[in-house]
Amino acid sequence: MLRIGGLEIENPLLLAPMEDVTSLPFRLIAKRIGRPGLMFTEFVSAMAARFNRLAALRKMRVSDQERPLGIQIFGGDPESMAEAACLAEEAGADLVDINMGCWVPKVCRTGAGASLLKDPDMAVQIVRGVVRAVRVPVTVKVRAGWDYDLFAAPELARRFVAEGAAMITLHARFARQGFDGTADWTLIEAMRKAVSVPLVGNGDVRTADDASRMMRETGCDGVMVGRVAISNPWALAEIRAGVMGEATPRPPSLDERVSTALEHLRLAIDHEREGWEPRGEHTNPELQACRSLRGQLPLYVKGAPGAAALRARLSSSSSYSEAEELLLGFLQDSASQTCAISA
Ligand SMILES: Cc1cc2nc3c(=O)[nH]c(=O)nc-3n(C[C@H](O)[C@H](O)[C@H](O)COP(=O)(O)O)c2cc1C
Repeated sequence: MLRIGGLEIENPLLLAPMEDVTSLPFRLIAKRIGRPGLMFTEFVSAMAARFNRLAALRKMRVSDQERPLGIQIFGGDPESMAEAACLAEEAGADLVDINMGCWVPKVCRTGAGASLLKDPDMAVQIVRGVVRAVRVPVTVKVRAGWDYDLFAAPELARRFVAEGAAMITLHARFARQGFDGTADWTLIEAMRKAVSVPLVGNGDVRTADDASRMMRETGCDGVMVGRVAISNPWALAEIRAGVMGEATPRPPSLDERVSTALEHLRLAIDHEREGWEPRGEHTNPELQACRSLRGQLPLYVKGAPGAAALRARLSSSSSYSEAEELLLGFLQDSASQTCAISA
């Protein structure tokens, strides 16, 4: 059990915040399959929260089925971040997470994300402003530092904790690295010595063995998993079982993968229908959901024979029934091929 401020987390597996991925439909799938102890929304811009409230609220939608949930926000000044944190709390966040890890220029140019690692005083003011603005726990997700030779995170994290941060997540790469190279878990071990609040390790965990090794070698209290869950939410179940000392769940059948892809699409259509923008493309929620899952749906059957051809056809589908026909047809073809081989 992990305790973050007043919040109790049932297991130490955390689903990472991922832009355009960890929207409500994906989180509901991830929760059903992998039961992570805590999940996060994709990051929500504090400026959007101020100037495009509807879009921000859409990203902040929370379902009771997925709790506990952290809403992640990013921004470059304490005032807008405090406002965004209040909006997140009103929207139902169980905790508010501050992004100080995003390295992409469009975010860093605004003084937000990982660029705050270069401006410690502003970073601390933002944490202070957000902690004062909300009652729920406030957590911070950082990278090791901006430049390779400057491991700024431990000193920063100490200051964040002094301001009331209830948990620190370290993606064990420097901002300049983007996603290059491998995550250096010794940085997590070094961070462990800096903070007494829960520390979550992140970077390159793909299997249950990776997760157990990260916890053992670094002393971190939780493991955050990102990319592997995008193409394979069942990896979450395997990792969770591993860190909880439970039996490894069996891998999903092709049947299960196809039905989960369809479940995801149905959830995405509902999400579009319940959106707050009943105009433009949102007047056709099925089309919008098919478009938003163009990259993701084919991943459910990745590696199966014929998956590449299916991917191309799925990418141009524009309704649930069209996608369903393609996926069920694919399943039927696979079953008849298997019968032919085993006959
Ligand atoms: C598509 C994508 C979107 C991401 N969006 C966010 C984000 O919104 N907020 C954030 O803190 N990190 C974001 N990240 C970084 C992940 O949370 C995580 O730190 C990183 O992927 C390393 O973990 P992994 O090796 O398990 O993937 C994103 C990563 C990916 C691949």
